[in-house]
Amino acid sequence: MTREVQAPLVTVEVDDQRVEIPEASTLLQAIRAAGKDVPTLCYHPVLEPIGVCRVCVVEVEGSRTLVPACIRRVEPGMRVRTETPRVELSRRMVVELLQTSVDTSLAPDVQRYAAEYGARPERWQPFAREGFRTRRAPKVDNDLYVRDLDRCILCYRCVRACGEEGQSSFAIAVAGRGLGARIDPGFDLPLPDSACVFCGNCLAVCPTEALVPKTQFEMRRAGTWDERRQQVVTTTCPYCGVGCKLNLHVQDNRIVKVTAPLEDPITRGFLCVKGRFGWTYVHAGTASGPGSEAEPSTPAGTL
Ligand code: SF4
Ligand code: SF4
Ligand code: FES
Repeated sequence: MTREVQAPLVTVEVDDQRVEIPEASTLLQAIRAAGKDVPTLCYHPVLEPIGVCRVCVVEVEGSRTLVPACIRRVEPGMRVRTETPRVELSRRMVVELLQTSVDTSLAPDVQRYAAEYGARPERWQPFAREGFRTRRAPKVDNDLYVRDLDRCILCYRCVRACGEEGQSSFAIAVAGRGLGARIDPGFDLPLPDSACVFCGNCLAVCPTEALVPKTQFEMRRAGTWDERRQQVVTTTCPYCGVGCKLNLHVQDNRIVKVTAPLEDPITRGFLCVKGRFGWTYVHAGTASGPGSEAEPSTPAGTL
């Protein structure tokens, strides 16, 4: 009989509250164990934290600089402050700079943090040279998903989901440097000419709709996308014997998007092209509208 070995516990203080947490936990886990929270953008529960957005910073006693809570491991006796003026100023600046450089209007977390920290992105405008923000038209080069990179906050979630933590296709990466940095499949290729297998796992983790199902993109443009009118129906994927759990997002009795529950231990929110996009046959031969094409609109050779 094997016995589960419990990791030794470490005691830390979060805003004067003592928490005991397994060693090797992150400060973010300790903060949440204390019943508190900090903002996060690049953090995603099924991906390894990489600490690139810096919106989760906290103060740690004895540390000269602010500390990103999502990647810093706990140490015995650490004293953490999650809501000091310095922390709030830093988070406000991160949000303001994101809002200055890209369109975050469809990024609910950025919007929420902007309101919470009183972000005023307009105060950076005097410093913005002409061309500071490059407005890019959405890339619509396939039938399944759109790259609207003017909304990209470079959180790297999509790159990680496409790599060894998810799909293992390694089809996209960050190309360019500085203000020219962008998510790209290489040499600015159209997605159908790249290594992309159209699993859609990148868009499942994208927090800003920079990567978005084409149905959602088109319905937003037509002004018909309305999450308040959508129901989520959980079912089993009909394609293969794995039997992945699917969440069908249904609006006006039509499927408009498919996701997978993050808490499912089999998929962890990831799907293949069939589960994610192969549902349009459900509406084959019915009235026109998103999802009504007679054939599943998967690119040739991907099924
Ligand atoms: S759809 Fe899948 S394979 Fe293509 S870029 Fe996204 S995660 Fe990678
Ligand atoms: S496309 Fe989305 S997930 Fe990828 S880096 Fe940009 S914002 Fe993050
Ligand atoms: S959430 Fe911690 S650095 Fe992005």
